[in-house]
Amino acid sequence: MHSFEYQQGELYCEQVPVSRIAKELGTPCYIYSHETLIRHFHAYESAFKDIPHVIAFAMKANSNLAILRLMAREGSGVDIVSGGELFRALKAGVPASKIVFAGVGKSPDEIRDALKAEILMFNVESPAEIRAINDVAASVGMKARIALRINPDVDPKTHPYISTGMKKSKFGIAADRALQEYKMASSLSHIDVVGVHAHIGSQLTDVTPFVDSLKKVVALIDTLKSHGINIRYLNIGGGLGITYSDEKPPLPQDLAHAISPLVKGLGLTLVMEPGRVIVGNAGILVTKALYEKAGETKHFVIVDAAMNDLIRPSLYGAYHEIRPVNEAAVRRPKQMMDIVGPVCESGDFLAKERSLPNIQPDDLLAIMSAGAYGFVMASNYNSRPRVPEVLVKGAEFHVIRERETYDDLVKGERIPSFLNETE
Ligand code: LLP
Repeated sequence: MHSFEYQQGELYCEQVPVSRIAKELGTPCYIYSHETLIRHFHAYESAFKDIPHVIAFAMKANSNLAILRLMAREGSGVDIVSGGELFRALKAGVPASKIVFAGVGKSPDEIRDALKAEILMFNVESPAEIRAINDVAASVGMKARIALRINPDVDPKTHPYISTGMKKSKFGIAADRALQEYKMASSLSHIDVVGVHAHIGSQLTDVTPFVDSLKKVVALIDTLKSHGINIRYLNIGGGLGITYSDEKPPLPQDLAHAISPLVKGLGLTLVMEPGRVIVGNAGILVTKALYEKAGETKHFVIVDAAMNDLIRPSLYGAYHEIRPVNEAAVRRPKQMMDIVGPVCESGDFLAKERSLPNIQPDDLLAIMSAGAYGFVMASNYNSRPRVPEVLVKGAEFHVIRERETYDDLVKGERIPSFLNETE
C-alpha cells in the first residue's frame, strides 16, 4: 500500500492521520514516510545488486540529519556539494568512505576538510580545480582521490534549470578535452585519478539520455586505458525522475536493465547519486486554507504555506498534486483556482489554474511529492520561520526538525553600537 492514502475518511501517512500531526504541530509542516524512504532506497539498491556499487544519496534533495542517519543505516553513502553538507553527513554518521564531493566551486577550506575526513573522492569540474585540489592535498601531505566530471553533451529533455550535461552548461569538462585533463591530473603528485563521473540532469523520464551519456563515458574509459590511465569507479550521477502528475518515469530496475550491458564486465565499481527518486514521493507539505478570494478573473485560495516553504512551483513552474486531507472534501464540486501563499510576490503560488474541489477556510491540504528539494530550498523570506519536519514510522511520528521561532529569525544579527547613540 502507498504510504499517503485515505483511510477512514482522511489522509494518513502510514498509520498516522495527517490531521493529528497538523493539530499537534500546527501548519505548515513537512511529513515524511519512513517506510517509503526504505522502500525507495532498496528498490535502487536491489536493482543494481549484480554490479559492485556504492549508492551516494544526493543529500541536496533532503539533508535532514534523521533522513541521513536512516539512509546511512540502510547502507547508503552521500553525494555532497558543500562543506555544510560534509558536516551534516559526518554528524549523521555517514561513513566517509561512501562520500563523494561534487560542485563547480569547492573552496580550499572545503577541500581540506573533505581530505581530512578521508572521503571516497572528489568529482572535479575543471582543470583549475584539479590543480587547486592538488595544492591543498600537498599542503596537508595527502593524496586526493578524484574523478573528472565529464560533460557528455547529451540533452536530458528536462527543465533547462535542471539540465546539466549540455555544452552550454557550467558543469563538467567537455568529453573531447577529457583525455588531456586526465593526463594532466595523472601527472600531479598529490592526485590519485580513480574515476569518471557524469550527471546530465534531474527529473529524467526516459532512459535514453542515461544510455547515450554512458556510451560516451565508456568510450572515454577505453581511451584512458590505452593511455595507461586505469579507472576504478564509474559514477553515473542521479537524475531518475518521479511521478508528480502523470509522468511515467523508468523504475530503478529499468535503468539498471538499460545500463547493465554497458558496464558489466568492465570490472568497475558503479557509483550512483539518486536524490529525488528516493525522497520525492516520500514526503508531503501540509498546509491550511486561510481565505477564499474572488479575483477579477480568478478564484484564489490563500493558504498558510508559501514559496518560501516550497519554491518549486514558483521557480520551475513545477506541478505538485494537491489533495484535501479530509476525504469528503474530494467529492465537493470542482472549480478552477490558484492556490497561493501569504508572501508578497505575484510569483508566490503552489498551484495555478488547477481544477480542485471547492476548498473552504480551515481545510487542510497536502501538497504531494514534496520530499525532495522541498524543505532544503526553504528560506526565511518575508521573515517567515521555517516549518517543522516530521518522520512517520508506522503508528508513531517524530519531530525531526522543530518549527523555527521569531528569535531564530534574528539569530546572529547585531545592531552596531553607533545606532544606539542618541543625538
Ligand atoms: N548528482 C549531482 C552531481 C547533481 O547535481 C544532482 C542534482 C544529483 C546527483 C541528484 O539528482 P536527482 O537524482 O535528485 O535528480 N532543485 C531542483 C533539482 C536540482 C538538482 C540538482 N542536482 C528541483 O527542485 O527540481
